[in-house]
Amino acid sequence: MITIALSKGRIFDETIPLLAAAGVATTEDPETSRKLILATNRKDVRVIIVRATDVPTYVQYGAADVGVAGKDVLDEHGGQGLYQPLDLNIARCKMMVAVAEGFDYERMVRHGARLKVATKYLQTAREHFAGKGVHVDLIKLYGSMELAPLVGLADAIVDLVSTGNTLKANGLIAVEEIASISARLIVNQASLKLKRVGVQPLLDAFARAAA
Ligand code: ATP
Ligand code: PRP
Repeated sequence: MITIALSKGRIFDETIPLLAAAGVATTEDPETSRKLILATNRKDVRVIIVRATDVPTYVQYGAADVGVAGKDVLDEHGGQGLYQPLDLNIARCKMMVAVAEGFDYERMVRHGARLKVATKYLQTAREHFAGKGVHVDLIKLYGSMELAPLVGLADAIVDLVSTGNTLKANGLIAVEEIASISARLIVNQASLKLKRVGVQPLLDAFARAAA
């Protein structure tokens, strides 16, 4: 049995065509089903539905053989125990620093000010500001980061930006790009060796479809 870990929403939706290219289709839709283990048209393949941030953990410990996770999530996880053979070129966005309109970020940085930064991505933010030599107090949030500068919780946020609509709707502007983000296929290192016969065709089909 090959177990594939996916998160509901954009990762699941954008992985469907890649699964189809490998001849795999789930028999239920995670948006309507409450089931966390989804059967597929193939007896030897199943899909488990987990939180986006938990996908690397399931694959790392071998509870799933393969998974699809954003580079943002993988950078935070660290990637231990994972083989990352493929950039799937889906769920594309950018990791950015953003501030409220009118906040002079460049000036603050130039003057060596200590900044309060709210984010879900502590590792990424820590590395980014350390690389610039900027002192920061990091505040961990789990979502709605865009709110933090508006209510005085933080001077800046580190978050994902795609269309820019969420920033715009909240009067924020992006001031720095940290990284380009896309989803990656991840594989448990032991599964790659022990289940090669089942896993390799899946990797090949994903590679062809993502190219
Ligand atoms: P969790 O449920 O664990 O908090 P999440 O809510 O961030 O995770 P999603 O919103 O489904 O989960 O995002 C999954 C992945 O899609 C992210 O890890 C990121 O790589 C990518 N992503 C997030 N936001 C966007 C966006 N606006 N446009 C494109 N891709 C995005
Ligand atoms: C992500 C991200 C931003 C938004 C950016 O949130 O955290 O808030 O997308 O996209 P935009 O630039 O196209 O507006 P998401 O939609 O995943 O919501 P969530 O964090 O609540 O899951």
